[in-house]
Amino acid sequence: MLKGNFPIENFKDLRTPFYYYDLGLLSRTLDEVRRQLSQHPDYHMHYAVKANFNPRLLEMIAASGMGADCVSGGEVEAAVKAGFAPSDIFFAGVGKSDEEIRYALGVGIGRFNVESLAELNVIDEIAASMGKVAPVSLRVNPDIGAHTHANITTGLAENKFGINHDVLEDIIRHCLTLNHVAYKGLHFHIGSQILDMSDFAALCNRINEITARLERHSLPVGDINVGGGLGIDYHHPNHLDMADFASYFATFRKHLMVKNGTPVHFELGRSIVAPCGSLICRVLYVKEGSYRQFAIIDGSMTELIRPALYKAYHRVENLSSHEPEEVYDVVGPVCESSDVFAKSYSMDKCHRGDFIAIRSAGAYGEAMASQYNLHALPSSYYHK
Ligand code: LLP
Repeated sequence: MLKGNFPIENFKDLRTPFYYYDLGLLSRTLDEVRRQLSQHPDYHMHYAVKANFNPRLLEMIAASGMGADCVSGGEVEAAVKAGFAPSDIFFAGVGKSDEEIRYALGVGIGRFNVESLAELNVIDEIAASMGKVAPVSLRVNPDIGAHTHANITTGLAENKFGINHDVLEDIIRHCLTLNHVAYKGLHFHIGSQILDMSDFAALCNRINEITARLERHSLPVGDINVGGGLGIDYHHPNHLDMADFASYFATFRKHLMVKNGTPVHFELGRSIVAPCGSLICRVLYVKEGSYRQFAIIDGSMTELIRPALYKAYHRVENLSSHEPEEVYDVVGPVCESSDVFAKSYSMDKCHRGDFIAIRSAGAYGEAMASQYNLHALPSSYYHK
């Protein structure tokens, strides 16, 4: 089995499980995104902090010149601390609390992505009480499905996200009457782990329809935020360690009709950080079950919940062994039957103490870790 290049001799004294980040790969990824963006002067990237808010990664991403897309006051605070310019920080989410709105206004963030009429009025009131004007975009539910897992599709009318596009005109008109919000543009997002560029083309077509409609009604469009969602190849981390940013931006370039000079904002998370992270675990026991052999490792759904929550695939590699492959169910120690990383999975024969890497875990891994069963939160180590 082809494996990633991990310095396991340096792992010997470390307490497992831990996240291991390849900062060289992150740096090459950031360079590639920057190179792509330099060809489109109106395109701006706001890294989706929810994918991974590890301070070391955030600082590198901030230093590369990107803005930040945040979904809580805590994320806004982490972004400011990591060095993102407040004016490049956007704040989204269906349920912003008064305290979070006040905090973000105080910091002077660049944009509130507003998801309902009720929220718009609250932001106006809070901004008035602080003597400020809040820059807002309206998040529109484009009613477009992405070919991805049902739990991470967000752009359908049945989802809780965004304003239905049939009431958009009324809400923009209302927004223009408010004194403490400034209407700046439209925000969209259709889902995550999208590999089929035709989903993004469909989003562009829907945005084109909506902006044409607003123009017919002599309403302002402002700038466009297309959200995030670009997927990565979870199956081949050793061959394809970078998302296809070129095709992604080319799709928007080809299908999104905006006037020259209109800023277009992107909010990628997964594609920027997923490939650079692995969860490193040790094999605790190899157990013969009635039907199958279990490799019981010390990492679990508390460090990486994606397999348990979404049945997500992550490649699993035995870094210590070079013996012929055997078939295992790779499971963690948590008291839930869903605490499984891989079923009927072939990998090099496992022994107690072997190091196991669970690959492509840099996005929605550490960020979604919990302390269930009173496990300690995982530590992180970095390879420069
Ligand atoms: N913008 C908005 C409004 C979002 O809701 C999201 C992700 C993003 C941007 C970034 O999307 P990305 O480029 O990372 O796909 N925990 C799930 C993914 C949840 C995504 C939520 N929203 C997972 O582990 O697959």
